[in-house]
Amino acid sequence: MLREQRKLDHIRFALELHDSSSEVTGFDGIYFLHNCLTPVNPDSVDIATHIANLALPVPVFIDAITGGAEKVKEINRNLAIIARRTGMAMAVGSQYGTVKSEIHTDTYTVVREENPKGIVFANISALASPEEAAKAVEMIRADALEIHLNAAQELIMPEGDKNFAMIRKNLARLQNAVSVPVIVKETGCGMAAEQIQELQSMGFTCFNIAGHGGTSFAAIEALRNGRPRYKKFAEWGIPTAWSLIDASHFIHPWDTLIASGGIRSGWQAAQAIAMGADAIGMSGNILAVLLRQGIEDAVTYLQDMIDELKDIMVLTGCRTVKELQQTPLVFTGNTLDFIHSRGYNALFKRKTNFAWRTDLHEFYNCPKI
Ligand SMILES: Cc1cc2nc3c(=O)[nH]c(=O)nc-3n(C[C@H](O)[C@H](O)[C@H](O)COP(=O)(O)O)c2cc1C
Repeated sequence: MLREQRKLDHIRFALELHDSSSEVTGFDGIYFLHNCLTPVNPDSVDIATHIANLALPVPVFIDAITGGAEKVKEINRNLAIIARRTGMAMAVGSQYGTVKSEIHTDTYTVVREENPKGIVFANISALASPEEAAKAVEMIRADALEIHLNAAQELIMPEGDKNFAMIRKNLARLQNAVSVPVIVKETGCGMAAEQIQELQSMGFTCFNIAGHGGTSFAAIEALRNGRPRYKKFAEWGIPTAWSLIDASHFIHPWDTLIASGGIRSGWQAAQAIAMGADAIGMSGNILAVLLRQGIEDAVTYLQDMIDELKDIMVLTGCRTVKELQQTPLVFTGNTLDFIHSRGYNALFKRKTNFAWRTDLHEFYNCPKI
């Protein structure tokens, strides 16, 4: 009951905080260079991308939101309808409680019922056992597994699991628990280069940085908790753009980099891709449009977002996602300060492209895609 109520609280507070979002993603002050000689016609833009070996027709997907309480089944059904109609992949919310209790399974399987052929991601805690991870994947015949990291949330949540010392050890156990790709994701606090490198050394190759600037679980739990000393932690986390810059410097050519955390427009999605992202996750904004305006408006919102992304690709002269990853960007303000304070150069570009050259995979001993 406690867990179910918490799931409902998360939705309520996410919507409440959404309206006062401080938009500190770090995307402000990052500019594209207009290409006055663009050779790209709008109808030739190709936005297909990959997450590990999964081909995505659209680079934006609906990231983890909910499941595990009777009242949220309709939300997952509607999100699955939106995913089907837009051709987007979709992640379910954490299945950790349900794989343990085996109740409310239908609040997750409804996603498969509504979208039998879609790309669906399972979602589990970093403290789950390999058997629980496998069960989560099996429950929805998932195409990939998201393992979420949420230290800030668990710390502030009175009933949170604070066994942080176990996480690394357990992640190593989860690495080979399932036969589908594994995505390690944050939940709104971002990932720093140091931890991405550590995860790489453990064998992980897909990272969803889920940075600060959108939904903040620290803020949500601070509201639930009510203790004034946690209020300041609403500001905790690495802004999404900064986390992407960190990640881009260390991501291997065969890795997948997913940007999320406060991304609300095709413009920001394009900025994230130009900083090296392969795909874009969105949660809070899709949830807000769905619950306030309904399925039709949510579909229109996402289609407009994709059209905006395509327009930017035309005006930067990029026909594909891979080309957009290489387009020049101009950094100013706080994000430029971040680049300098981390010892990077503003001309950085993700080491990319040869992931598509299958002949190099053996040489680099990396997984074939
Ligand atoms: C109501 C709500 C519930 C969420 N529950 C989960 C969850 O169960 N597992 C997870 O990995 N992330 C969860 N998230 C986090 C999102 O997947 C995402 O990482 C984060 O919200 C940042 O993206 P956004 O700013 O677009 O919302 C949830 C987000 C929202 C809004």
